[in-house]
Amino acid sequence: MTNFSKSAAMMQRGIDFLGCETAILCGAMSWVSERNLVSAISNAGGFGVIACGAMTPDLLDTEIAETKARTDKPFGVNLITMHPQLFDLIAICAKHKITHVVLAGGIPPKGSVEAIKEFGGKVIVFAPTLALAKKLLRSGGDALVIEGMEAGGHIGPVATSVLAQEFLPVLAEEHIVFVAGGIGRGEAIASYLEMGACGVQLGTRFACATESIAHPDFKKAFFRAKARDADASVQVDPRLPVIPVRALKNKGTEEFTAKQIEVAGKLDREEVDMLEAQLQIEQFWAGALRRAVIDGDVENGSLMAGQSVGMVKAEEPAAGIIAQLMQECEAALSKR
Ligand SMILES: Cc1cc2nc3c(=O)[nH]c(=O)nc-3n(C[C@H](O)[C@H](O)[C@H](O)COP(=O)(O)O)c2cc1C
Repeated sequence: MTNFSKSAAMMQRGIDFLGCETAILCGAMSWVSERNLVSAISNAGGFGVIACGAMTPDLLDTEIAETKARTDKPFGVNLITMHPQLFDLIAICAKHKITHVVLAGGIPPKGSVEAIKEFGGKVIVFAPTLALAKKLLRSGGDALVIEGMEAGGHIGPVATSVLAQEFLPVLAEEHIVFVAGGIGRGEAIASYLEMGACGVQLGTRFACATESIAHPDFKKAFFRAKARDADASVQVDPRLPVIPVRALKNKGTEEFTAKQIEVAGKLDREEVDMLEAQLQIEQFWAGALRRAVIDGDVENGSLMAGQSVGMVKAEEPAAGIIAQLMQECEAALSKR
């Protein structure tokens, strides 16, 4: 058994909070973070998180039960705050006594944090600014994830390295803070631990784990890609808002730019009104992540990936990825 004593000591608060062996979370990835990957991560000593995404309460109920059938280790559930049935999903988490609920995608609506605490769940929140982070931690958030723009999926405008410098010196002593975005190797984990983080969250590095059900063509696209291929979506017209998403460039991303230009033209010619135009932009990617992850449509689907994709070279078991990250982290800390 390899000795990870230095890393474990620096992760101790995160380990105690999560109840697992290493404070490495596999961030929820819609369609990817389901029973197989989540249980594999938790069985390997990390912390798996189910991506509820747009699931109905019934589907979440089944997914939790199936995950529990595959692991007796702790895992979390990630809920998107704007889900129309958020409170029903929280009730499902209560039914299963889920220990950790991650609230993603915006400010938690009134009563949601309280509803999770009522059944004894711990609440993990995201915050793009320091002021909001303080507010969420004051009003019941038990831990914070800071996620930089290097990450895969929906992103904010600021890099992980900058967020870490802004948030950690102020918050890390008193609060549980995990750092996410662009982490591909253990040396980076070591440096964030030294800055005060008590753990990290990775997505891209785990998306192609052996246990991930992502389509073989989705995984191949990851193995081929370099950091620069994981690009943030661009907004073409100020009237047509686009929430930036980092994904591998493909035919779909090119067509999205063309679509924005086409819709902006229709708006200028008054062929569509603003609402219809914004809806057309918003709906362009509907179902696109599923098409890529499940159907393997790597041309038209959304290949959400972070810049660390260049460090994903082959399929590896989740346990192997975690062990390698921990070895690199431990070696880096031992050299100090
Ligand atoms: C394919 C993919 C899907 C994702 N889906 C979600 C999601 O549904 N909810 C969420 O909160 N974050 C989502 N994320 C973000 C991850 O949970 C994680 O925070 C991020 O991947 C960390 O950065 P990294 O990709 O640089 O490791 C997704 C990321 C990827 C790569």
